Amino acid sequence: MRRPCLLAIESSCDETAAAVIADNGQILSSVIASQQELHAEFGGVVPEIASRAHVGRILPTIKSALTQAKVSPSDLSAVAVTSEPGLVGSLLVGLTAAKTLAMSLNIPLVTVNHIDAHIYACGLGRSGDVYPCVGFVVSGGHTNLYDCCSPTDLKMIGGTTDDAAGEAFDKAARILALPYPGGPSISEAAKSGDPKAVAMPRPMLRKPGLDFSFSGLKTAVLYAARGQPGPDQLEVTPPDRVPDLAASFQEAVIDVLVRKAQRAIRQTGHPRLCVGGGVAANHLFRERLTQMCSDNNIELSIAAPEYCTDNAAMAAIAWEHLKAGNTADLDADVLPGLIRTPAPHTKSRRQRGGSEA
Ligand code: KG4
Ligand code: ZN
Repeated sequence: MRRPCLLAIESSCDETAAAVIADNGQILSSVIASQQELHAEFGGVVPEIASRAHVGRILPTIKSALTQAKVSPSDLSAVAVTSEPGLVGSLLVGLTAAKTLAMSLNIPLVTVNHIDAHIYACGLGRSGDVYPCVGFVVSGGHTNLYDCCSPTDLKMIGGTTDDAAGEAFDKAARILALPYPGGPSISEAAKSGDPKAVAMPRPMLRKPGLDFSFSGLKTAVLYAARGQPGPDQLEVTPPDRVPDLAASFQEAVIDVLVRKAQRAIRQTGHPRLCVGGGVAANHLFRERLTQMCSDNNIELSIAAPEYCTDNAAMAAIAWEHLKAGNTADLDADVLPGLIRTPAPHTKSRRQRGGSEA
């Protein structure tokens, strides 16, 4: 007999995605309709274009996820959908589709937090629990560290004060005239560059705490590429400088990310680090994390590359909500901002006997 399965829908940013997931976490299908080509000429996601594109793609994407999983709508036990955080118009398209299906099929609706799902993705396709852990979401919209007791019990312990790491990759790529999205194109250009060629700052590293700031690094790339503002500043980056600039920028971002992750592990005392989000697809970042964790005896789970960038399979976390009886009403709304109220376990670390690094 077929195991119970749910349909998951993700439309928080610029990927329209749907997946069918069995109750044991098996991913029966995962379909992603990317909008990258629509946003490429702008060097970043344009919210209005994103929501309009979701409208056109959502039904074909859901249909292909069901077809690939060989599941018909009447086989579904629930519909899960990302409802926070993200772009308001984009989130609304997914939520409206999910509500319509839940109502017409008379099955439960489950709302999913996109950040929780990025961390949950670290356990997909692997046996064993990845919690408790330090969760690290490094994407186009977030660079956040979490103290995670369970999939749904997370406390934010650090975050970016300005640009997210992925956003910095995208903006630096634009300065260097590399294609969008910037992460993959910077990492490709960096292959033939020298990461020590251009001195780049390591923002917030000398300050205590777990916060990040990447906007200064983007400005450092601009000045190193074109010179200081003024009449002598170049209009475009000389192409022969691009590999060294890309490699030096990438090195600086990864250095900061890895060292702050190490600090978070020391501070929380958790034995495991779970890293997800688009930037976690970066090869050098994965290598550096692996090295740091092996040097410090930390267990590391990085989401599989196909589950780093936005997808609906990571909404497998919906099964945790269903098992706990957490379903949503049909008047559920989207929450575009990153809202994280302290979770029940989050007494101060001192109260829990941990050290404040
Ligand atoms: O998680 P994601 O798909 O969307 C958000 O939730 O934001 O992340 C997209 C971000 C983009 O900024 C993209 O440049 C970055 O992830 N990214 C990478 C790589 N692949 C995607 N950054 C660095 N290296 C990569 N290989
Ligand atoms: Zn994401």
